[in-house]
Parts: sequence; structure tokens; C-alpha cells
Amino acid sequence: MSLSQPHGGTLINRYQPDLDLSAITKQVEVDKIALSDLELIANGAYSPLEGFMGAEDYEQVVQHMRLASGEVWSIPITLPVSEEAARTIKEGDMAKLSYEGTVYGVIEVREKYRPDKTVEAQQVYRTTDLAHPGVKKLFERPSVYLGGPVTLVKRLPKQRFAEFYLDPSETRAKFRERGWRTVVGFQTRNPVHRAHEYIQKCALEIVDGLFLNPLVGETKADDIPADVRMESYQVLLKHYYPPERVFLAVFPAAMRYAGPREAIFHALVRKNYGCTHFIVGRDHAGVGNYYGTYDAQRIFDHFSPAELGITPLFFEHSFYCYRCGGMASTKTCPHGEEDRLILSGTKVRQMLSRGEVPPPEFSRKEVVEVLIQGLKQPTYSS
Ligand code: ADX
Repeated sequence: MSLSQPHGGTLINRYQPDLDLSAITKQVEVDKIALSDLELIANGAYSPLEGFMGAEDYEQVVQHMRLASGEVWSIPITLPVSEEAARTIKEGDMAKLSYEGTVYGVIEVREKYRPDKTVEAQQVYRTTDLAHPGVKKLFERPSVYLGGPVTLVKRLPKQRFAEFYLDPSETRAKFRERGWRTVVGFQTRNPVHRAHEYIQKCALEIVDGLFLNPLVGETKADDIPADVRMESYQVLLKHYYPPERVFLAVFPAAMRYAGPREAIFHALVRKNYGCTHFIVGRDHAGVGNYYGTYDAQRIFDHFSPAELGITPLFFEHSFYCYRCGGMASTKTCPHGEEDRLILSGTKVRQMLSRGEVPPPEFSRKEVVEVLIQGLKQPTYSS
């Protein structure tokens, strides 16, 4: 076995820092999500995408979870621009892409189209409820989409944890250096608590390496900020993981909270980073009660193993059981609710922000210390 082939067969590289932009007069301002998508297209994390989706790819993805070429793809990667900006751009134009005035890339505008966001919400998020953070964001973003290939001309600034920003070509090289033939990817937008650690370590019993790949792009306001989480991951790895079996790097994408659809997307992207396996536990990328606990696992049945090219590893809801005296799941523990320690993410965040310490059976004490300390800082960034 060797590391996974990139999705579509080739790792895309659309980074060209010396591209001459002097003849390009048009410029559109993009939002933070599009900016992170631009970089992830360019560095190959979103292979085979070479740009923001045109209408045909978009329709196919929304309706059938496939690109027009037939390749599996579950989340629309789009470039929404305002009506005013759209009026200044016509199909065939080259346009610079800027964020807060700084130019990061260019797009060759092949298409300009108006999406039906109600359909997009229903298909991708399974709801049109504006209380869903992904749906809310979808409707807040501008209403005209530009499609076409992009080139990144400037890397995004990384103030902190710069050493944890690696492109897929770099993570692949790291995995190869370590002699790993099988690597399991782990997506998270939370601190790693004992349940996460348990499923990661179950997976580590059967594969060569763990790629701990926390998402650090835009998340909803009440998620724990990426800075604080990054410190908590490092302290956890230092005390509880064999260093030669784990590799930590960030995934700088925005969180969509699209549950099942996002699980497929997360798996395909980790395949591009070189993973052969991907962990999908309970309510992966879910929020509130919009998805069933295991919907994000069932969705994998729609696709053949060959077309996914990465093996999902499914885990049931895991917890500490006082009678078992250890971590367990409904698959391995015969005891009842009263013997199990189960705390919701919301409850834990409330405890931490009040400086209360969750029990050591829920979270390692070193992790809790970092989180309590981090959440006290008045000006953390996410
Ligand atoms: S997510 O939005 O990034 O999926 P989170 O960081 O909580 O949220 O989850 C990371 C991964 O761990 C996901 O695959 C999720 O399904 C899994 N997971 C989280 N908590 C548990 C748990 N108690 N038992 C089993 N799997 C879990």
C-alpha cells in the first residue's frame, strides 16, 4: 500500500507568485471564506478543482454530489460577489481577487451566474432554516457567483503557528519521510477530548500514522478559537501520544456545518493531503439537531470505495464508562446511561468559560488548563 493518489489523479498547483498582473484592470473583493478557498484550490487541497465552480459543476454538485466530470464532490466551492461588482465584470474578463484591499489571486471569469440559494441550502444543508450557521452564512454571502480557474499570487498571512501550515505536497513528503504507508486523517473544530483521543488511538492500532488536522478557518462565534485549540493539541500530543506516530498540521478552510455532505468533502480533502483513511464519528460536522447521529457515516454508502479513494473509519458515540473503568462506545459497553460520562460541547464550553474544570475522564487535565487559560484572554482571535 502507498499514500493515496490525489482526487482526480493529479495534485493541482495554481500558485504563481511571479504572475504579471499589470494588464489586469478589474478587481473584486472577496470574503474570508472565498479567500481560504482560493488558497486551498491553489495548493491542491481541493484537487481536482482548478478554480471556483461554474454553473454546470455547481448544479451537479448541489444535485448529485458530483462534478460535471463525474468525480465525487459534495460541497459547492463558489465565489459570490456583490451585484455592483458583478456589473463591472463580464465573462472572459481576468479579475484580481482582493481581500481587505490586498490582491491574493486572479480569476479568469468563464461564467457569471445567479444561484438558487434555497435549493443549495436544502440540498447541501438539508434545511433552509436560517438558524443553521452554514445556511445563515450562505444567504449572507453575495448573490452572484463567478466561475473560472484561479491563480494564487500571494500566500495568506500566518501570524501564529506558521509551522503548522503545510500544503498537501508537504504533508505527503512528511508522511513518506516517516515511512508511513497508511495514514488516518482526523478532522476537528474542537479541543481533543478523551472521546476524540479514544477513536484516534483505536485507529492508530491499525494504521501507521495519525494526521491530526484541525480546521482553523472561519467557524461560528461560540466555537473555541483556533489559537487556543492549537495550544491544547500540542500539549495533548506532548503528554499522551508517541511523537513518531502523529503529525499535526492545520486545515485552513471555513467550517460549513453541513454534516453528511461535509464529511465526504473532509474525507476527499484529507485524501489530497495524503491520507489513506479518515475518521468519521458521531454527528461529524453537525450542528444542533439538523442531522441524525450517524447520517455522516451513511452518506458514504452512496459511493463506491474506488471513487472515494479513501477508506472511512466509522466510530460510534464514545464516552467514559465508570463501570468499565475506561473509554468505550455503545459497541463495547453493556452498561446504562447512569454509568457513562457524557457532556455536550455547549455544556463543556460553558464550564470552561466559567473556569470550571471538566472531569479528567472527559478531558486531560493539561488540555483543560490550556483551554481555561486561553479563554480568559480578552482578545483572542479565531
Ligand atoms: S467536527 O465538526 O469537526 O466534526 P468535532 O471536532 O467534535 O466536530 O469532531 C471531530 C470528529 O470526532 C468527528 O469525526 C466526530 O464525528 C468525532 N466525534 C466527536 N465526538 C465524538 C464522540 N463522543 N464519539 C465518537 N465520535 C466523536
